[in-house]
Amino acid sequence: MNEMKSISQTKIIDITEISEYEKYLYRCLVGSFRRYKKRQEYLEKVIPKGFHKKLLIFDGEIGGQIEYAPAEVSYSPIIGDNVIVMNCIWVLRKAKGHNFGKLLLQDMIKSERDTAGFATIALENHWGPWFMKWQMEKLGFKSLDSIKVVHKMKHKGQVFGIYLMWMATTENAKPPKWKKEKFLEGITFCTAHPLYHSQTWKGNIFEAK
Ligand SMILES: CC(C)(COP(=O)(O)OP(=O)(O)OC[C@H]1O[C@@H](n2cnc3c(N)ncnc32)[C@H](O)[C@@H]1OP(=O)(O)O)[C@@H](O)C(=O)NCCC(=O)NCCS
Repeated sequence: MNEMKSISQTKIIDITEISEYEKYLYRCLVGSFRRYKKRQEYLEKVIPKGFHKKLLIFDGEIGGQIEYAPAEVSYSPIIGDNVIVMNCIWVLRKAKGHNFGKLLLQDMIKSERDTAGFATIALENHWGPWFMKWQMEKLGFKSLDSIKVVHKMKHKGQVFGIYLMWMATTENAKPPKWKKEKFLEGITFCTAHPLYHSQTWKGNIFEAK
């Protein structure tokens, strides 16, 4: 009954189409809304090419988000025909316990029903709580490949795994590939991402182990 009630009070809105929540395009659900150059440049390029960011509104408050784009423009080194890369999925702690993660995922699948499948990354043995492999598996993703790395600045010596994760929408879908060495450069499209490196950093931020 509680589950039914909460679902009926829940909506998912695409903020690339609705300007009310535009500031959430530029950064994460928590923290400052300062715009930064790399994110702005990223959005200008990808929004016209199929990037979407959606918010889950629960009882009038933001409870979670999902962000994705076609692999060719996702700026993750993941390659595939007709593949969507999920940049982020996040349900806030206060909204946990209602399977909102699955709800956001299903909304993406429904909106992108002609795609071959969805790719993302997962981490294992990283010091932060983000992109944990078991959570991505719980959402339905399976691991295809992995690389072990260390960060050059933070938690030096702690080896963690970056996994390429995949969820096909049809049985015969061709799984994506990745240029895993490119992940050693880190990513710049989101400052909250565990693989982010600052705009002043030059060269690889990770070392393969
Ligand atoms: C993955 C995530 C989206 C799931 O959120 P959610 O849908 O609110 O999760 P729920 O609390 O409803 O739990 C979903 C399922 O996981 C299970 N679960 C939750 N916590 C668990 C735990 N610690 N151990 C085992 N199972 C757990 C629940 O029992 C439920 O199982 P069911 O589907 O069989 O009922 C959320 O945990 C999250 O945002 N994690 C961080 C993701 C991330 O790193 N994003 C990148 C930010 S940079």
